[in-house]
Amino acid sequence: MTTSMRTYRRAAVALMLVTASLAGISSPAQATNQIAATGAPGSGDPYFPNSGNGGYDVLHYDLDLRYTPPSDPAVLVGHLTAEATITLLATEDLSSLNFDLRGHEVFAVWVYGSGAKHGKSPAERVPAEWSQMRDDASRVWELAIQLRPKLKAGQRTTIEIEYSGNTGRPVDTTGALYGWVTTADGAMVVNEPDGAATWYPVNDDPEDKATYTFRITVPEGKTAVANGLPDGRPVTTGGWTTWAWEASDPMASYLSTASVGDYVLSYDEGPGGLPIINAIDAGVTGQPLTDTNAALALQPRMMSFLADLFGRYPFEAFGAIVDDDSVGYALETQTRPVYSHLASEYTIAHELGHQWFGNAVSPADWQDIWLNEGWATYIEWLWAEHQGKATVTKQFTDAVAELDRKNLWALNIADPGRDNLFVEQIYRRGGAAIHALRAEVGDAAFFEGAREWLGRYDDSSATTEDFEVVMEEASGQPLDAFFNDWLREPNRPAMP
Ligand code: TRP
Ligand code: ZN
Repeated sequence: MTTSMRTYRRAAVALMLVTASLAGISSPAQATNQIAATGAPGSGDPYFPNSGNGGYDVLHYDLDLRYTPPSDPAVLVGHLTAEATITLLATEDLSSLNFDLRGHEVFAVWVYGSGAKHGKSPAERVPAEWSQMRDDASRVWELAIQLRPKLKAGQRTTIEIEYSGNTGRPVDTTGALYGWVTTADGAMVVNEPDGAATWYPVNDDPEDKATYTFRITVPEGKTAVANGLPDGRPVTTGGWTTWAWEASDPMASYLSTASVGDYVLSYDEGPGGLPIINAIDAGVTGQPLTDTNAALALQPRMMSFLADLFGRYPFEAFGAIVDDDSVGYALETQTRPVYSHLASEYTIAHELGHQWFGNAVSPADWQDIWLNEGWATYIEWLWAEHQGKATVTKQFTDAVAELDRKNLWALNIADPGRDNLFVEQIYRRGGAAIHALRAEVGDAAFFEGAREWLGRYDDSSATTEDFEVVMEEASGQPLDAFFNDWLREPNRPAMP
């Protein structure tokens, strides 16, 4: 037994209390002012104000997950029982802090003494008080943990959280499947933008990158694939197999995955012997499998091509997770993108391009999403040209023609609004803006600027303004008017 106080309640009566308590946290700035020593419940992203939390910086997530896939494929509900051990550094004096966690019930929280390192021993842990605040209408769930004694700015601690819940088919604010998506044979896990909280307690802010350890226990016969590299062979006992993965490169939470399926693993090598691990669901067969295998065989060459242009591949591993199920899109999950039904050549080029643009250097705020998608689109164009399919200029002209035809110039892609993160304009106008920038500053400054951007903000996050500064420095020319015309003005810009 623990002495933990449980203030979370399921019943509808409790929702009233809970909604009342949420009123105080709806504005992060206000909450911080009210109780100075409480970490804010949001990171301040204008699109997702309650995602992420203030007052600390996560260093490492150790996620121990036991997952039961649906017993009836007609009812897509699974079950997750988990223990998250999170090591963090306080950036303010804290008497409490918050994590984002949606759809799960917490049943125990322990805090390790400050100064405790990775190799903490259970004897050092003390039970902590916590509360869960929940408001389904505004999609806000917060887990607040009391810290006794207080954590001082600059101290680190480790917090262990036990929780469980049924898993379903969560959707983002636009209705697209995301997060821990329960499938007939497992789960497709794709968090962008704010879906990580559907499976672990998280500081869900792309500015707080951390390393990860995953231990995923699934029924014997299932395969669990996460980011990074395997930590030893899977271990089976009593009909359950534990798959261990270690992601040693700092990663934004929206890029984490722990997908489960009837995957068959295969291995390849990228430049310099870099390990490539591909997981293809046994349910992918026939032409989609033939096409997927042919496209995946191109990965080492694509990696060399992009490394020559933009610098060394930024992570410890690469590969693909190809599920026989679908969320309707692919995602650039770090070191191991997830694909729906099949992996095609240009989607692989796109998701590989994101490893540099989006993953090594991530958007500081969600309104900077065009930096991810514009670059990834441009990289598809570069690969197509390299393959002799079409010149970049031709693909640029086609994209502009498509924007003209559909009359899609009105949107400010540098601040498109929360529900327009993945609309066509972000990709096409974004890719066109990158190409126009190259035409504006010339090849030498363009590639020098791109490499400087990747070097300066590696393992970190940055804004559109930061990108403009780097490109102005590389080219020695002012680019304010250019960036406004290509990203923000509600009109077709002058063509290069
Ligand atoms: N980032 C994905 C990509 O590059 C796109 C994506 C994430 C997406 N969530 C989405 C697309 C929801 C459509 C709907 O391809
Ligand atoms: Zn993309």
